[in-house]
Amino acid sequence: MLFQSFELKNIHLKNRVVMPPMCMYSAKEDGKVTPFHIAHYQARAIGGVGLIIQESTSVLPDGRITTHDLGIWDDAHIPGLKQVASIIKEFGAVAGIQINHAGRKAKVDHPVGPSALGYGGDYKTPAEMTKKDIQDVVLAFQEAARRADQAGYDLLEIHGAHGYLIFQFLSPLSNKRTDEYKDGTRFLYEVVEAITKVWPKEKVLALRISAHEYIEGGVTPETISEAINRVKHLGLDLIDVSSGGNVLVKIPAYAGYQLELAKKVKALTGLPTIGGGLVTELELAEYAVSSKSCDLVYLGRVLLRDPYLVINKAKDFNIDITYPEQYIRGKKS
Ligand SMILES: Cc1cc2nc3c(=O)[nH]c(=O)nc-3n(C[C@H](O)[C@H](O)[C@H](O)COP(=O)(O)O)c2cc1C
Repeated sequence: MLFQSFELKNIHLKNRVVMPPMCMYSAKEDGKVTPFHIAHYQARAIGGVGLIIQESTSVLPDGRITTHDLGIWDDAHIPGLKQVASIIKEFGAVAGIQINHAGRKAKVDHPVGPSALGYGGDYKTPAEMTKKDIQDVVLAFQEAARRADQAGYDLLEIHGAHGYLIFQFLSPLSNKRTDEYKDGTRFLYEVVEAITKVWPKEKVLALRISAHEYIEGGVTPETISEAINRVKHLGLDLIDVSSGGNVLVKIPAYAGYQLELAKKVKALTGLPTIGGGLVTELELAEYAVSSKSCDLVYLGRVLLRDPYLVINKAKDFNIDITYPEQYIRGKKS
């Protein structure tokens, strides 16, 4: 099934392999795309990946994880992003982008968060967001979505995982508010609602979430699915399932360690999912989709090591995949 196509709204994936968002911290302080980003995403598209979701791209300068994050807070970012989206599509993959605000995990002078509670380590204690701050960030997500559409991406992923701002609201461990936003889903709801006003209905809207915090009192697959169920009617099409990142705990990681979480979220929300986590072999990826743990599988770090993994390993599945013509003389028989 891994090499079967997948249709969702206007997107047609030639296979079920996804390159998940991975920050490359290779932008300059202006947040603009550099030649590195073009080469990086182009190589994975040539390498046969079905869907590429561009790394966390910040909706505001103060929402950057680092000052070398890609940005989408200004129209001046659109031309560079357009180049990335079009190069991905040119080489046969679907182009997605992840938009994010890092909240208390932003390495900036004045980070903000739902509550004045630091992440730990050398992270600063954030200022508790006022309602005006919240409105401004919701608007920044909306503006980012408009720019992503203009740049030509066909899939928009909202980063609601890994302890960044949206997740900080969702988790009872980081959200200690006493106003209406103590219901952490409210912030997510407002972000999704604002985005759906500008993101075209025919394009795919995805949400990445952490489905487990591995600590008492944190988010679980059940509680996160409840949150998703409260917002999905606004227009969520796909859930990208990850875990952890909001508190400093050790994650018990093994090959495919988050696939069970993807399966649960899929069952509890009825939405298609992307699953993964230390999936380095296509055999495991095949098992993940054929056992219906998830609809699509992400391969992260292994694609950093080997951009051409998909085209080179397809032959192990007796799949006659379209090999880049320019490289045919190097193809293993
Ligand atoms: C260098 C690097 C950067 C990452 N940046 C992001 C990111 O921008 N957004 C995100 O949601 N996850 C990010 N992740 C997590 C990956 O998307 C993926 O979920 C994780 O690496 C687990 O998959 P893997 O075991 O196949 O690598 C990053 C991971 C790595 C290794």
